[in-house]
Parts: sequence; structure tokens; C-alpha cells
Amino acid sequence: MARILLGVSGGIAAYKACELVRLLVKGGHEVVPLVTPGAERFVRAETFFALARRSPAEDLYVHLTQADLLVVAPLTANTLAKLAGGHADNLVAEAALAHRGPLLLAPAMNPRMWAHPATQANVEAVRLRGAVLVGPDEGETAEGEWGLGRMAEPEQIVARCRELLGETDSLAGRRVLVSAGGTREPLDAVRFLGNRSSGRMGVALAAEARKRGADVTLLAANLSLAPPAGVDVVETPTAETLLDAALARRDADLVLMAAAVADYRPAERLETKLPKDQQAWHLDLEPTADVLQSLGERRTNGQVLVGFAAETGVEGLARAREKLERKRVDLVVYNDVSRSDIGFDADENEVVLVTASGEQRVAKAPKERIAAAIVDTAEELLRERAR
Ligand SMILES: Cc1cc2nc3c(=O)[nH]c(=O)nc-3n(C[C@H](O)[C@H](O)[C@H](O)COP(=O)(O)O)c2cc1C
Repeated sequence: MARILLGVSGGIAAYKACELVRLLVKGGHEVVPLVTPGAERFVRAETFFALARRSPAEDLYVHLTQADLLVVAPLTANTLAKLAGGHADNLVAEAALAHRGPLLLAPAMNPRMWAHPATQANVEAVRLRGAVLVGPDEGETAEGEWGLGRMAEPEQIVARCRELLGETDSLAGRRVLVSAGGTREPLDAVRFLGNRSSGRMGVALAAEARKRGADVTLLAANLSLAPPAGVDVVETPTAETLLDAALARRDADLVLMAAAVADYRPAERLETKLPKDQQAWHLDLEPTADVLQSLGERRTNGQVLVGFAAETGVEGLARAREKLERKRVDLVVYNDVSRSDIGFDADENEVVLVTASGEQRVAKAPKERIAAAIVDTAEELLRERAR
């Protein structure tokens, strides 16, 4: 799911950060622990690496600019002051400067330290720059004092993380099957017939469904990017393997078939590499089985089936509408592949969502936002089924 940087600074509450790592990993997140030397006086960095299932020898710098969220828990008065002042003398402070995304801080300190005007001024400074605070809570501190300064409980911190990452439970308990990428049909031992699909749209859909709590299986056809964390990945390099894997999971509640599956494949596959020759190479292509249609025909439960139509122009939209009925699909996502700024192998997309009740145009946006609009409509169809 999300990539989370977890900064741990030197307070007694560092032991509670162990539970925080455990909960975040259990929730399907990739956690990168950043432990200050001060925190190592309380809990060794190895403990956090073990809980995060990472190697302590890993180079952490590469992660500083690639995370979805930075959490610092516990946040000491000292580290807070560093964040407010823009210091960069340890990994946590450096991450706070390098990271471009939400920053969640869980302060933990003695109530007098928390109430001090210097600390409060630092809190104000980081808040003004967009940092979100969780806690501190009121209660008894480790030193036996009473007041405001206890670190928020790990469960409370996880709940705030989920909010900041846009996670919900709207698809909790639902099985979602997504296909992504483009199939490659072998010609001989090294050559294939393929297409330009990168898999970004399908990966964004899988990530979105996972964010909403679904149990997601991703059928991956030659992806050119990493699949999202927390989803089951099944490699399906060809149309045939994709069809088999899809049929084996045809009882999913929601099926989103975003992969570009070959319509034709070489009738014959040579086992060895065809040597270079001056002779022309004539190919016989045979049609592949239609995955979407096969799933549509075998539907038994209240499944919602979503297909993609990579077509061109106005006639393409008419074909998408026709596909909806012919293939017994609930939603066809039409995108115009004649444009180079959207669709195949591009970061953005612009689509029309075609359902039995009409059409909804989704304006050009990053594929993550398009994925959210598609899953919103699919969820609405799932709710209609349940009524
Ligand atoms: C036993 C002990 C407990 C401490 N607990 C806290 C604490 O809860 N909060 C805090 O802000 N500082 C606490 N400190 C002080 C910090 O460890 C100290 O300021 C340190 O320099 C913090 O470094 P760091 O912010 O780089 O991790 C504690 C110190 C000791 C010796």
C-alpha cells in the first residue's frame, strides 16, 4: 500500500513505536524506520528493522524522497526544535526536509517541556507549514507526573495515518480482481507481439481498491512499474495465462480488467530463435479468447464487471457503448488512444465512464485520480446490487 517513513526520536515512548511499526506492516504498508542516535539509547534500530522486515544494512537515503507519508513518533522536544528550525543533522531531520507529502507528528515529552513557550512556538511553526499533530494526550508520564505530554496510542496514530493516506473501509471484506499491463505473445524463443501498455492505470486501480480496504489480486502482464504494496500479484505474461488466472478467480466481487490483452497471437510459436535471414517472415495470427466476455458469460453472483475500451474518436465511444451490452459488462471505461498525452504509457488519462444508466466524462487527471473515479462508480454499482 503506502510507503511510510517512520522517524523515531529519543523518548521513553520509543518502545511504543515498535507496536506502531507492527500495526503499519500488518496493515500492508511498507515501513522505513529512521532512528535517531537519541532513540537508540532506548530501543536499538535493529528492533525496528526486524519489525519492518527490512535489512539493517539497507541504504535509507533512497527512501527519503519516495515516501507517501512521514511520521515521527515519538517526537521529542529536541527533534521538534530541529524540524521547526530546518536542521539536517540526522536522518529524521533530513527526511523532514527532503519529503514532499503529509507529515504526522506524535509528540511525547514531560508536561513542562510541552507547555514551554519555546516548544509551543515550534509546534506553531511546523503546523503553519502543514504538519499534522496527533496527541499529546493527558495522563501519567513515565516519570510519574500528570499532565499533557503522553504520546498518542499506536492505534490512534495508525488511524491518523490512514486518514492522511486517504484510506477508508468502503471495500473492506470485498475481493477485487484487477488486471494491468500488456500481454506479450511469443513468436519464437526471444521475440513477441506486444503493446505499449505500461500497467499504470491497472496499478493505480489496484492501489485504490487496496486503500479502500479490499482484498486485491493483481494480474500483472509485463508491468513497467512496481505493483502496489499489500496486493497479491499473479504474473500473467500472455493472453492465455491471463484468461486462466482470471477464470480461476471469477468469483471476485469486483473485477477491473485494465490490461491490454492481445486480440491476436501467432498461430505457431517457434521453440528456438529464428535466425536472421533475407527471406520475408510471414505470420499467421489467430484470435485469442476474450477475457472480459468469458467472465461476463460465467457470472453467477452480484459481481460488478468493469472493462476498458482503448479506442479512437467518436466511433470508439459508440463501440464502448456496444461493448457494454455485448459483453455483459457493468461499466466500460472508454479512453481515446489516438491522443499521445493520455492513455497508453502516459501519466494522465481522460476517460468516459459508460454504464447502463448513462455516461460520465472524467476530466484529464493523473491516473490515480481517474482510478478513484472509476472505483467510486464501481462501488456505487456494488451498492445497487445489494439493494
Ligand atoms: C530517560 C530519558 C527519557 C527521556 N524522555 C524524553 C521524552 O519523553 N521526550 C523528550 O522530548 N525528550 C526526552 N528525553 C531527552 C532526549 O532524549 C534528548 O533531548 C535527546 O537529545 C533527544 O534526541 P533526539 O531528538 O535526536 O532523538 C529523555 C532523556 C532521558 C535520559
